[in-house]
Amino acid sequence: MCGIIGIISKQSVAGPILEGLTRLEYRGYDSAGIATFVDGEIKRRRAVGKLSALKEVLAKDPLSGLVGIGHTRWATHGAPTVINAHPHATPDVAVVHNGIIENFADLRDELMAAGRTFETETDTETIAQLVSHYLGRGNKPEAAFAKAVARLKGAFAIAVLIKNCSDQVFAARMGSPLAIGCSDGAMFLGSDAYALAPFTNRVTYLLDGDRAVLTQNEFTIHDGTGNVVQREEQISDVSATLVDKGGHRHFMAKEIHEQSEVVGHTLSAYVDPIRREIRLPEGLDFSGVTRLTISACGTAYFAGLIAKYWFEEWAGLSVEVDIASELRYRHVPYPEKGVALYISQSGETADTLAALRDAKAQKQQIVAIVNVPESTISREADVLCPTHAGPEIGVASTKAFTCQLAALACIAIAAGRQRNKLTAKKEQALVAALLEVPRQIAEAIGQSEAIEKITHEISKAQDVLYLGRGVSFPVALEGALKLKEISYIHAEGYAAGELKHGPIALIDENVPVIVVAPDDRLFEKTVSNMHEVMARGGKCLLISSKKGIALASRGGTLWESVPVPDVEPLLAPLVYAVPIQLLAYYTAVAKGTDVDQPRNLAKSVTVE
Ligand code: AGP
Repeated sequence: MCGIIGIISKQSVAGPILEGLTRLEYRGYDSAGIATFVDGEIKRRRAVGKLSALKEVLAKDPLSGLVGIGHTRWATHGAPTVINAHPHATPDVAVVHNGIIENFADLRDELMAAGRTFETETDTETIAQLVSHYLGRGNKPEAAFAKAVARLKGAFAIAVLIKNCSDQVFAARMGSPLAIGCSDGAMFLGSDAYALAPFTNRVTYLLDGDRAVLTQNEFTIHDGTGNVVQREEQISDVSATLVDKGGHRHFMAKEIHEQSEVVGHTLSAYVDPIRREIRLPEGLDFSGVTRLTISACGTAYFAGLIAKYWFEEWAGLSVEVDIASELRYRHVPYPEKGVALYISQSGETADTLAALRDAKAQKQQIVAIVNVPESTISREADVLCPTHAGPEIGVASTKAFTCQLAALACIAIAAGRQRNKLTAKKEQALVAALLEVPRQIAEAIGQSEAIEKITHEISKAQDVLYLGRGVSFPVALEGALKLKEISYIHAEGYAAGELKHGPIALIDENVPVIVVAPDDRLFEKTVSNMHEVMARGGKCLLISSKKGIALASRGGTLWESVPVPDVEPLLAPLVYAVPIQLLAYYTAVAKGTDVDQPRNLAKSVTVE
């Protein structure tokens, strides 16, 4: 994840900006930069590598100035070079950015047609060019900034300097976190409270859609509809710990809310947003593969089950998925030139590692999707496909799961191209749909308050059923796992079509049935299963699009419903994961369990 700092002060800001960037090093980066106003002009210093390289540049060529912005960049598309390092700038605007601008290619074409010339191929430069464009059309700085932000689609956090406003920093947030810090005679902007901790513990988090203008002694926030709003100031409890809760009550809540940002970051590692195509790590070629074996444990296993549908649908590839604790003891007749893919957040799960070693001994090419790059599974894989979820502290896996899905979707699409099962046009359409997911996740998180209200009822249940079909069936399994592992309520996930083969005997008014059903080609069938439940006095909570909920409501009164943004049907698990995570989270909070450290569980099961 990238890191952002902004400071307006009475003293030189270069040093404090570097200190704030140091607090963001935990997010991972490979270049850094800073921009300040010097005698009214915007000046930049950037360097590849660690902050020490930037400090050396500044030692040789210091930057004065009382207003500035800084950035640590984790290179995704665009190599870690000085030219790709932030801040990106035009002569009158400088910007630092964390996230993805989904529509930047179209904006770039529009701006180039309007005569603007670009220095890089990054989405970030488009932001600076867009603000400059509106300035050039006679808009005042704040109006130019507001118009530019209104054009941006995607999940992002940005900080901007605009010439002739040398006492201000402009900020905007959609999906990626951004906080304002106040202290006497200085104003700060940072990606999280930890970055602001050296300067202040008075932290005000911007909400999605907010834009802000900061001066040395005050700040004004406008919400997504343009109204001036007040946001709550919190006293941050950040101590010296590397990762804090970011103003949330639990790490799990923070990690659910980080998904828009980190899924975007994971996608950036595999997607070329200009050409709308996937770039796989070296050495991964599915063209001659006859069968793919996927194995993992727990939530990671459910990610593998979802990927099975994708590899079959997009790549025409036969897939076997099994839990690692079973696979490791089977005598699997692995195919010649087979690929075995392992999914693990920690990269240390004993069963997954054992299954990997068994397949390696049988000459399978080992591919690993891991969140901890220096882990054992990462080291023993032939090809590492990293997720960029950042540290996941909560025992219940959330952001790692959606980042695993993001990486798996990219790999399956690329496999489809390699096996000539997907046209370039279809790849571009799927990539475009993937680039919308971070924003859709942010919108799904917007249902938090409504979901919290529902969970007061669910927390009284002894048993809960989750139903889903197709790619939503593993989502139902994951929802049941989330609920039982943190709220200790017994829950089962079932394929909706399986209900009448036994489980429907469980149904009565005391068993909530949570139905995961995007309005896709299987929607009607799932809804008819749901109506069978309702006809027997069961109470159903439907998670679907607004259209799906309206259609399902015609056949009977839903107990509850949770609307989810419209999403490419096969990619639905990336977004539908959010409501099932939130249902489990708020139910556990209502029950007063230890959400981050549930009883009997460990974050990484490194023993059999
Ligand atoms: C998920 O919420 C659980 N904490 C657990 O099932 C976890 O997914 C499983 O232990 C696998 O861990 P890994 O991804 O680190 O291999």
